[in-house]
Amino acid sequence: MTPPCSVWNTAPTSAPAQRNGRYAPGSAAHPAKMHPGIAAHAIRTYTQPGDLVLDPMCGIGTTLVEALHLGRNALGIEYEPKWATLASLNTRTAAQASGTGTGVVRRGDARHLTALAPAVAHGNVDLVVTSPPYGPSVHGQVRSSRESGERGVVKKDFRYSHDRANLAHVSTAHLLEAFTEILTQCRTMLRPSGTVVVTTRPWREHGELIDLPSAVLAAGKAAGLTPTERCAALLAGIRNSHLITRPSFFQMKNVRDARRQGIPLSVVQHEDVLVFTRPESGTGKPCPTSDNSACAAAFRSRTCSRRPRRDH
Ligand SMILES: C[S@@+](CC[C@H](N)C(=O)[O-])C[C@H]1O[C@@H](n2cnc3c(N)ncnc32)[C@H](O)[C@@H]1O
Repeated sequence: MTPPCSVWNTAPTSAPAQRNGRYAPGSAAHPAKMHPGIAAHAIRTYTQPGDLVLDPMCGIGTTLVEALHLGRNALGIEYEPKWATLASLNTRTAAQASGTGTGVVRRGDARHLTALAPAVAHGNVDLVVTSPPYGPSVHGQVRSSRESGERGVVKKDFRYSHDRANLAHVSTAHLLEAFTEILTQCRTMLRPSGTVVVTTRPWREHGELIDLPSAVLAAGKAAGLTPTERCAALLAGIRNSHLITRPSFFQMKNVRDARRQGIPLSVVQHEDVLVFTRPESGTGKPCPTSDNSACAAAFRSRTCSRRPRRDH
């Protein structure tokens, strides 16, 4: 068996193709949806059927929908009522389609995650998959002049509402402070040795590179999580050993404009994936066996908190 690879082949097909038929009308308008293949890869890699997956900033519910289709349970928090309503709808549809698992969406500020989440989920989350909101420069869709009645192409769906509690509106420093708080609360929601996967990417503010992935790494450490992996999830497909890029119109425009000014920008075709685990910190029960299948059974029944390993 090939061991897991740090480059995730998550976009053999485009995000709209992967979403096809699974999302309620209006979902496409979210300005920063996660690529479904990234959520699915993380869920397959770090959980087993029946596990509980949490996204504290769930947008239209991509993490939850993928978790349910893979036979996991799902819990999501979203601040904006419009996206929370769509996440509920998408989650319900996925739960019905998969026939297994339950999905719950709560509307609220993820900085109050532990108060918002059902008590039964506390300490029982196996995996957190999330991404913080970041810069509008790569978000959004194009509306043609024919649609809009305006000259040229117009950008649409690239901003959130103007509510200041939406962390998309705050400075990078404030976002990181709030995200550290959210990760701290995620840590208390996780079972010992549970996993946190954060996807993010560098972006530019007034031409300057903001290294958000490194800042998120620091936020995870400050939240008491242990960094375990840093991976790249492809947004490009692979055909005959070549990358098939799928940049948005405005990504291409930004890169061309920068190159015209002599700045050698590249089209970003991956997400940085940061993986953390919750330390056992003495709360996990000791593993009762050295036998692998008995260990897996103990893990499933939660008499042991340590995830079974092939070398266990
Ligand atoms: C990068 S998007 C996540 C998209 C999501 N993964 C999906 O595929 O739809 C970040 C989300 O965080 C939400 N958000 C911003 N501030 C928040 C807060 N304080 N509490 C909860 N959600 C928040 C935004 O409204 C946005 O939907």
